[in-house]
Amino acid sequence: MPGAHYEVVGKTAVITFDNPPVNGLGFDLRHAIVTLVDRAQADDNVVAIVLTGTTRAFSGGADIREFGTPKAGQEPTLRTVIKVLESSVKPVVAAIDGVCLGGGLELALGAHYRVAATSARVGLPEVKLGILPGAGGTQRLPRLLGLEKALNMIVNGTIVSATKLADTPLFDLVVDTDVVASATAFAEKMAKENASHKRVRDLKVNQPDAEALLQVARANLAAGAKRFPAPLKCLEAVAGSVSLPFDQGIEQERQLFLQLMSSPESAALRHIFAAERAATKIPGIASDIALRPIKVVGVIGAGTMGGGITMNFLNAGIPVTMLETKQDALDRGVATIRRNYENTMKKGRLTQAQVEERMGLLSTSLDYADLAQADLVIEAVFENMDVKEQVFIALDKVMKPGAILASNTSTLDVDAIANFTKRPGDVIGLHFFSPANVMRLLEIVRGKKTADDVLATCIDLAKKIAKQPVVSGVCDGFIGNRMLHRYYTVTNDLIVEGALPQQVDKVLEDFGMAMGPFRVGDLAGIDIGWSIRKHRAAQNPDQDFSMVADKLAEVGRFGQKTSAGWYRYEPGNRKPIPDPVVTQIIEAYRAEKGVTPRKISDEEILMRCLCALVNEGAKILDEGIALRASDIDVVYLSGYGFPAFRGGPMHYAEQIGLYNIARAIGQYAQESDKAAKFWAISPLLVKRVEAGGRWA
Ligand SMILES: NC(=O)c1ccc[n+]([C@@H]2O[C@H](COP(=O)([O-])OP(=O)(O)OC[C@H]3O[C@@H](n4cnc5c(N)ncnc54)[C@H](O)[C@@H]3O)[C@@H](O)[C@H]2O)c1
Repeated sequence: MPGAHYEVVGKTAVITFDNPPVNGLGFDLRHAIVTLVDRAQADDNVVAIVLTGTTRAFSGGADIREFGTPKAGQEPTLRTVIKVLESSVKPVVAAIDGVCLGGGLELALGAHYRVAATSARVGLPEVKLGILPGAGGTQRLPRLLGLEKALNMIVNGTIVSATKLADTPLFDLVVDTDVVASATAFAEKMAKENASHKRVRDLKVNQPDAEALLQVARANLAAGAKRFPAPLKCLEAVAGSVSLPFDQGIEQERQLFLQLMSSPESAALRHIFAAERAATKIPGIASDIALRPIKVVGVIGAGTMGGGITMNFLNAGIPVTMLETKQDALDRGVATIRRNYENTMKKGRLTQAQVEERMGLLSTSLDYADLAQADLVIEAVFENMDVKEQVFIALDKVMKPGAILASNTSTLDVDAIANFTKRPGDVIGLHFFSPANVMRLLEIVRGKKTADDVLATCIDLAKKIAKQPVVSGVCDGFIGNRMLHRYYTVTNDLIVEGALPQQVDKVLEDFGMAMGPFRVGDLAGIDIGWSIRKHRAAQNPDQDFSMVADKLAEVGRFGQKTSAGWYRYEPGNRKPIPDPVVTQIIEAYRAEKGVTPRKISDEEILMRCLCALVNEGAKILDEGIALRASDIDVVYLSGYGFPAFRGGPMHYAEQIGLYNIARAIGQYAQESDKAAKFWAISPLLVKRVEAGGRWA
């Protein structure tokens, strides 16, 4: 039947889940389990029941395709299924391999016995979605693992290998042979030996100083509870396993679960969970399209980005050849990579052998001919079109047919770069973020002529090197930097009009941004934007590109590297200290521009910054540069420090109301002619307000 298969092996009914890819507990599977367990009860030839999945997954938990649909709550719910298992007269054994997560583990906890393969991995990761295990997990896991272990797993959402838990009562048996055969033999033995079968709900939680332990854990979690309420609620639910009778504990778990389900933080985290998965799917490209094999990689340029990009592949076991124009640049690049690995080793996160293994995958060259066999090459040379042209012409000459030619450019036209070659279909942008070995985001820039399989291969590759891919069309700044440019223009205007950097930073950090824009400026270096603006001004003498930052750069305040920027810094300390000199520079700038400062409220600062991001995001969406509003959220969360519990700028805009965003933009646009131009509202935003206030 749909969802699961039934087979009698010896005297055991084996019920095998069949809901690819991970046996999510959707309606069909839940319904099949109940039906097939009933069938086994009625079958006189059957003495025991084994539930199992595949080697990939016993069950990955709830079926995310059902989220938000009526099927998610349709009976039999998971709680009903678990009751059916628990009350079975014939022993029920879960035979677990692959992942057994969330609802999948809760289901297994409802069985009388559990037999796991050594390769199985179990966990209750619901907290990562801002919720808690809502089908008895917080009550049953502590009864088997003890309070402390279960609490840690539930509060942190950690996933643990079955071998690590082999000596706990969670498993009756952990085997490295056929798990279903072992479970079947075990089930028949239990059927023969025992008249009644143990139920986890009847056990007591074993923990001597439970209350003291809970108090310490509570104190540790209290600080973060405002932004992430789920961990503390997880703790309260688990506490019920000690202090309450089982059914009351379940009832309390239910109440806490429902509270979290309706919290904005959980809505944001669930949105991002779904958004990250959606970002890897491209409309019009089949999910089974043949991918190009990527076994050998070339990187051009061994500077800041080239080195970081290279490390991603070495970490994934993929050999890299780095190419430069001069040997000393290569030597510096290799030395930096080694130093980075050795620093990680000093922190205990890599062994010497692992460092050497990674360095062993790295080779260097000054000759393009050495890249002839690479499956993919990523260019990370100076941001200059003439240099890119030379590089892509050289690559076109040597690369084998079918190789992918990628550029890490931040600002240049990927279509123009593609046209330097005779194979524009093989060219793509792979925009890594600095530090490229650390930042999760990878903007994959799809040129007009980029072939579908090239795009699909790069998305797949991103996952292999632990990056979060988001596809962007070609435009100035792609998704992330194009929006950031608008945000920085607003933060500059705010200080010209009357705010101070420390006020703006505080507002945005209180909102949850990892760092305020002026602190970011000090970290990244104020001189970089200054030199870009000088260059632009020289090319367009009639336009005003100036910003307050230029006045700081002119007096040598480049940021942290000169111990002075938007803030001042004490030697050896990165703590920003507001500086009256900066206030004077800002005041002088205002006077120069004839601006009379006004008092700007924190609310206005936040709203203007959000409106700038959202209006540009809407334009990006309208132009088809981003495929979905949720892709923009993924960019902002994984690349720009936007707070996860707000779900990204586009999600947050829906929460506070697209109507309110549009109304504020309309008001800002009326302030001056310049403002009217800057705040020209996105036609898509207007349409979405009229259509009910959602992006899709
Ligand atoms: N730095 C960032 O934050 C960042 C972020 C994303 C993308 N990018 C982009 O990455 C690229 C590289 O930036 P970076 O910060 O690593 O610059 P970088 O100056 O640190 O490194 C560039 C390297 O390229 C080498 N190089 C120059 N011309 C070359 C050629 N013809 N052949 C081979 N090697 C050559 C240089 O010797 C240098 O080592 C640029 O396109 C930049 O826009 C930078």
